[in-house]
Amino acid sequence: MSSDQPTELKTHQPPAALVAAARVSGMAAYHALVAEAEADHEAYWGRLAREFVSWKTPFTQVLDSSQAPFFKWFADGTLNVSHNCLDRNIERGLGEKTALIFEADDGAVTKVSYRELLAKVCQFANALKARGVKKGDRVVIYMSMSVEGVAAMQACARIGAIHSVVFGGFSAQSVRDRVQDAGAVMVITADEQLRGGKQLPLKAIVDEAIALGGCETLKNLIVYQRTGGKINWHPERDRWLHEELAGQPSTCEPEWVEAEHPLFLLYTSGSTGKPKGVQHSTGGYLLHAALTTAWTFDLKPDDVFWCTADIGWVTGHSYITYGPLALGGTEIVFEGVPTYPAADRFWKTIEKHKVSIFYTAPTAIRSLIKAAEGNAAVHPKNSDLSSLRILGSVGEPINPAAWEWYHANVGGGRCPIVDTFWQTETGGHVITPLPGATPMVPGSCTLPFPGITAAIVDETGADVPNGSGGILVIKKPWPSMIRTIWGDPERFKKSYYPAELKGYYLAGDGAIRDKDTGYFTITGRIDDVLNVSGHRMGTMEIESALVSCTELVAEAAVVGRPDDTTGEAICAFVVLKRSRPTGEEAKQIATQLRNWVAKEIGPIAKPKDIRFGDNLPKTRSGKIMRRLLRSIAKGEAITQDTSTLENPAILDQLTQAN
Ligand code: WT7
Repeated sequence: MSSDQPTELKTHQPPAALVAAARVSGMAAYHALVAEAEADHEAYWGRLAREFVSWKTPFTQVLDSSQAPFFKWFADGTLNVSHNCLDRNIERGLGEKTALIFEADDGAVTKVSYRELLAKVCQFANALKARGVKKGDRVVIYMSMSVEGVAAMQACARIGAIHSVVFGGFSAQSVRDRVQDAGAVMVITADEQLRGGKQLPLKAIVDEAIALGGCETLKNLIVYQRTGGKINWHPERDRWLHEELAGQPSTCEPEWVEAEHPLFLLYTSGSTGKPKGVQHSTGGYLLHAALTTAWTFDLKPDDVFWCTADIGWVTGHSYITYGPLALGGTEIVFEGVPTYPAADRFWKTIEKHKVSIFYTAPTAIRSLIKAAEGNAAVHPKNSDLSSLRILGSVGEPINPAAWEWYHANVGGGRCPIVDTFWQTETGGHVITPLPGATPMVPGSCTLPFPGITAAIVDETGADVPNGSGGILVIKKPWPSMIRTIWGDPERFKKSYYPAELKGYYLAGDGAIRDKDTGYFTITGRIDDVLNVSGHRMGTMEIESALVSCTELVAEAAVVGRPDDTTGEAICAFVVLKRSRPTGEEAKQIATQLRNWVAKEIGPIAKPKDIRFGDNLPKTRSGKIMRRLLRSIAKGEAITQDTSTLENPAILDQLTQAN
């Protein structure tokens, strides 16, 4: 579906009224920005850094490439992100403006003004300081969507502590690994989270993570009381957030940090078994979060912005915690799930809060299309969505059919859709339409954001002509790029700046540019990374989780296959230590292994298909032939050359083992 060629599809023009009023108005304005950046990359970014960011000490040098690929941006400038997001807006007269509209799982609404949010963040920051957290310390945040979650991140930024948010769906083992790798001194969590009317544990998982051992750096655990559910308490270590905040002053002088001071780490999956801590900067990151919120979403003072991502992902960082607040916007923080109390929750929430900009993932759209097809009552036509003016998509390719449905049924045919391509590592959008400029082609993320030198090259780094696919790279550094992998600069260089690519940033995706328009279409990852419901999963990570079930598993190989709803689905081929199970027994062991993976990584990593074999298809040198496994997983006939296979008979066995 997503491989449909853009040229065969209908082009959608942005509506004239939107173009006229847009921050980047029309393609001539887009091209002028691209030309400005091409003429002088540093002058362009320097200008925007002065316009979009408030500096305590102005920078004198825009880019320092002397240690490339460890680029430094605005290095001698100092600033504070929380000051940019809060104090600065109050100074501009926005103190009473609503910053956050918290829409709880049960529909309860809490509005927080900029003044209130600043007070809360300052109290939180003072509480962290009172527990000894200092500039440069790492703080793990394991919370669900809440005002407190956003405030925790902002409070870290205020005192120069480096946050590392761990998505609330990750397992104890994953929490432990991240606390350990980051050397975190504190974990901030909640007693429980509420999702779809269910109470799910958070604190208990942190307890379990700590019990696994290896978290010696950890001194304190702060617990936000969300549900009041029963939890175990360790008085020497655990603190209630409300008790920590009580009596703390509601002002706190920001810690002015250098632009390159790390703002956060965010762990993401790569080609090896171990997730990597992507390190982002303060100045360059904030610039791009703010700039893309302004240009890609055209955020204006009266907008109500809603990004449905979780703060556990980079989308929640850039487009909930930082970008919209840096611009003084009003945004929704949504605790719940799209299907509770019914599969019209998104539409009802847009109607309720008069949301004007809505940003979600293709998986959510596809599952809501299915829901609306099955039950007319939850169709978006039953909600008043007239407040919407711009729609966005993120995380995975959006197939043209889902694009058209979203455009017609949610956007009423009048809202541009920005299909934003980016990554945890890029910090913000890198290829995307601008809603008041770019003609849109469903399934294509269109053109590079002005100043981002995205290109398609071959394995030697040479440009390929439009129309032929290749490797997606970004040729020049940009302010919000990943700075390093925490604790592993060599891995950073190897993963993103391989020697053969002439100093270009390697995104890890394949892409193709349209012959006529030059529009980009992402063709999928070129490494061992899967994208399941917009969540990034390393095949090696899942394999290591499976083989760590040493009682049962001898060997495992994981591949992806296309899935109509989740984009890709995880398929595991497993060799057990005992004989190959069939029938009911195979089903039962598969369930057991799925639960094992959920426990090791998190439920999002559960394989959809598990097939058992006596062996795996290997070359004579012992290499697993994943190409063949991918064909089997897809259910397609094997046309590849299998002559190098040591054990060709295994293919029939695995094909039948379903
Ligand atoms: C990978 C990055 C972007 C923030 C959330 C995911 C895929 C992302 C698109 C898009 C096609 C996309 C890529 C990318 N991806 N957006 N609009 N069209 N593919 O961040 O977890 O770091 O994953 O998501 O494969 O490399 P992430």
